[in-house]
Amino acid sequence: MKSLLLTVTLFVLVAVLQAQDDLPFLSEENKLSGIWFVKAIAIQRNLAEKRRPVVVFPHRVTCPEQGTLEVRTTVMSEGQCIKVGFRIQRTEEPGQYTTFSGQMFYYIYELPVKDHYIIYMENLSLEKESQRGFLIGRCPEENLEALEEFKNFTQLKGFFQENIIVPEQRAHQDHNCQAIFATSTQQ
Ligand SMILES: *[C@@H]1O[C@H](CO)[C@@H](O)[C@H](O)[C@H]1NC(C)=O
Ligand SMILES: *[C@@H]1O[C@H](CO)[C@@H](O)[C@H](O)[C@H]1NC(C)=O
Repeated sequence: MKSLLLTVTLFVLVAVLQAQDDLPFLSEENKLSGIWFVKAIAIQRNLAEKRRPVVVFPHRVTCPEQGTLEVRTTVMSEGQCIKVGFRIQRTEEPGQYTTFSGQMFYYIYELPVKDHYIIYMENLSLEKESQRGFLIGRCPEENLEALEEFKNFTQLKGFFQENIIVPEQRAHQDHNCQAIFATSTQQ
């Protein structure tokens, strides 16, 4: 009787855990076209000791053809703004995308909160260290429900909650960046 109870309890627990992991994958790439804001980032490594404000810029996503997403944004590196762009392509695996080099895998999940998605990323050449999760939304304002979904999701993926960063939003038209773009396009 006791072991039956234990079995039932375990079964229920497994069912609950599975249900929580059950965010649906992105159903259509076109849904991601447009401008996105990175609202939270989950990292595996504990960066608590060198905690600095993390700065993010809007991301422009296009879908040049079915199965392909192109992402353009700006990143801050040692005080400089650098324009970056890359493409990811759908693989045979449901919900999975990869860079053309095949080293990075991306999984895109739809959230029940409107206009919010989770992007979960793994670098094959490094193990757990290089996993990252991103909560993205159509507008930069905080959304507590989406953040809670993101926290639950990343917890199930084994991230520590203290490694969730809410970044500082920047606009592309920040003066520093404009100057750097101007000089870099002249070269
Ligand atoms: C993946 O990790 C390797 C090893 O650290 C690194 O050289 C490579 O740049 C990483 N790939 C990406 C796309 O970040
Ligand atoms: C997050 O997980 C907690 C604890 O399991 C649960 O109570 C809560 O409803 C979950 N929130 C969302 C938005 O799924």
